[in-house]
Amino acid sequence: MELMNTNSPEQARKRIPSQIAIDGPAASGKSTIGERLAKQLGYLYFDTGIMYRAVTLAALRRLGGVGDETAVTDLANKVVIDVLPPTKADGREADVFLDGEDITWDIRTPEVDANVSPVSAYPGVRKAMTAQQRRIGLAGKVVMVGRDIGTVVMPDAELKLYIDASVEERARRRYLECVERGEQVSYPAILSSMQRRDQIDSTRAVAPLKPAEDAVIIQTDNLNEDEVFDRVMALIDPPGGPD
Ligand code: CDP
Repeated sequence: MELMNTNSPEQARKRIPSQIAIDGPAASGKSTIGERLAKQLGYLYFDTGIMYRAVTLAALRRLGGVGDETAVTDLANKVVIDVLPPTKADGREADVFLDGEDITWDIRTPEVDANVSPVSAYPGVRKAMTAQQRRIGLAGKVVMVGRDIGTVVMPDAELKLYIDASVEERARRRYLECVERGEQVSYPAILSSMQRRDQIDSTRAVAPLKPAEDAVIIQTDNLNEDEVFDRVMALIDPPGGPD
């Protein structure tokens, strides 16, 4: 499906994909690119990882752990997660609320990192989250970021990207992000937590992390943010391409 976008005269002349799916492993740079792309196109940016993180935080706080699949699934169906435009300029991509409480930074702790992959492997949790994400995707003019967006949530998206990098490079990027926020972290601990998360995310039975068959794979180890962005924009608006 190709929709004509009418945001600006410049864009109106071009066929801009209405649904853009971006997948990839932790800290591959997909959120940064997704956010920038959405801004450029005037689209909604939606980071689905936030929802899995919010359910994980709710389980840690209210159930004392994430091991009880039935209880966690029940919670996933009950909690109200709101993701709203950011109201503070402290590096946040959005304001995140769990049943009305601001949890924007609480979902970024090493404890949530360590528990989010087991939670998101529960089929009932995925079902609840996927249903909400599909509704958002169907409205169009959206850049959605996650692990299964091109394969499961928006399989008909006109543009699918898979942003990748080696685990060592991704751990280095996440380490620098944490240091910038003033957190006490160790590179080896981040690396091993990320390796564990990669392993669970890519081997789970439901919606494992993998590129969709028609995804464009971008390997970012040796590319900076601008270079990745330029590659993505070239796919949307190829130089000398179809007008
Ligand atoms: O920011 P980072 O890449 O570290 O993680 P995230 O995108 O916030 O996702 C956190 C976790 O949620 C992932 O490790 C997956 O286990 C899960 N997730 C998922 O299963 N499906 C999605 N569409 C998005 C996230």
